[in-house]
Amino acid sequence: MKNILITGGAGFIGSHLVRLLVNKYPNYRIINMDVLTYAGNLANLKDIEDKENYEFVKCDICDFEKVQKIFLDYEIDGVIHLAAESHVDRSIKDPFSFAQTNVMGTLSLLQVAKFAWEGQFEDKLFYHVSTDEVYGSLGEEGFFTEETAYDPHSPYSASKASSDHFVRAFQDTFGLPTVISNCSNNYGAYQFPEKLIPLFINNICKNKPLPVYGKGENVRDWLFVEDHARAIDVIFHGGKVGDTYNIGGFNEWKNIDLIKVMIKTVDRLLGREEGTSEKLITYVTDRAGHDLRYAIDSTKLKDELAWEPSLQFEEGIEKTVKWYLENTEWLENVTSGDYQKYYESMYKD
Ligand code: NAD
Ligand code: TYD
Repeated sequence: MKNILITGGAGFIGSHLVRLLVNKYPNYRIINMDVLTYAGNLANLKDIEDKENYEFVKCDICDFEKVQKIFLDYEIDGVIHLAAESHVDRSIKDPFSFAQTNVMGTLSLLQVAKFAWEGQFEDKLFYHVSTDEVYGSLGEEGFFTEETAYDPHSPYSASKASSDHFVRAFQDTFGLPTVISNCSNNYGAYQFPEKLIPLFINNICKNKPLPVYGKGENVRDWLFVEDHARAIDVIFHGGKVGDTYNIGGFNEWKNIDLIKVMIKTVDRLLGREEGTSEKLITYVTDRAGHDLRYAIDSTKLKDELAWEPSLQFEEGIEKTVKWYLENTEWLENVTSGDYQKYYESMYKD
């Protein structure tokens, strides 16, 4: 029996990872530790919540004593750490909560793992899930590799970069066995509609303006979330301790081109005439410090661990749009209440 602690398992990527591991490894006990912020939603895990090898514990990663008790009670021997504040726009409005959760929370978890596993590091692993945004912004050419120097620009990416440094410091200073992965932008089911893809699908459905930052020329490298979960599984089991792995799909899209694909797909699936929703495109003030381009070179992961994305983007976006159109109750639940206030304050101009 392996007791794996997944932090942030009620969020977007975490819920896909929990589902994958619970179904794939009946002999593991998967403990999902999440404090359930606005982004955490147990409805994301409805289909597996009754499985025998799954447990949910509500806990803040910053609560050192409570996390320590969870480590002891569940005899944790592996951690996959995803809990974080994850939205760049929110980090511009409130950088403190990003430093608190992403930096102090990660440090707290590292300390707990170090104490709990002291003298028995051999078969333990602390896996830290991070982002390509720590590498900063690319020009028209080139890719981020595992050797690219860190150059974060947003409070979000600065907090993730800092947490990555703490993870490496615990490896180098104390010998805590760690591994880090840095992944590109994810898309798929259960993503909170503050991020580009679910926000725009929802707005197209509701005939609401589509707020495109700047000229819509920024480029992101999109990966289907289930492929990210598969990569984490592969790295957790086969990655070299102390190493870093970049995860990405070699799938770059200029925002405005991606938005047009979403418009086309939603209009078609709703039986609207082609191009109906293009009129919703509204260019708004650019995001402060907006990184121009991200692009991941994931060759190391392919060469060492034979991981490759399973889906072509066209298939992934079709599946994703269909999921949001079919799961209106989920979408209504997460876009009622506080979401309205968030939306008004974020998009008031
Ligand atoms: P998310 O915002 O959807 O979910 C974050 C989860 O963490 C939520 O369930 C939330 O309740 C939980 N959480 C937040 N603060 C917590 C705390 N103090 N204690 C316990 N739980 C807490 O995020 P996501 O998009 O699923 O991202 C997960 C991880 O993957 C993050 O570390 C993020 O930096 C990283 N990442 C995300 C992307 C992406 O495209 N979304 C890409 C690369 C890496
Ligand atoms: P987002 O999904 O927030 O991911 P990230 O900023 O972490 O890459 O944004 C993806 C891209 O879409 C990014 O270039 C910003 C842009 N964007 C908009 O143009 N309008 C929006 O309302 C949002 C949320 C994002």
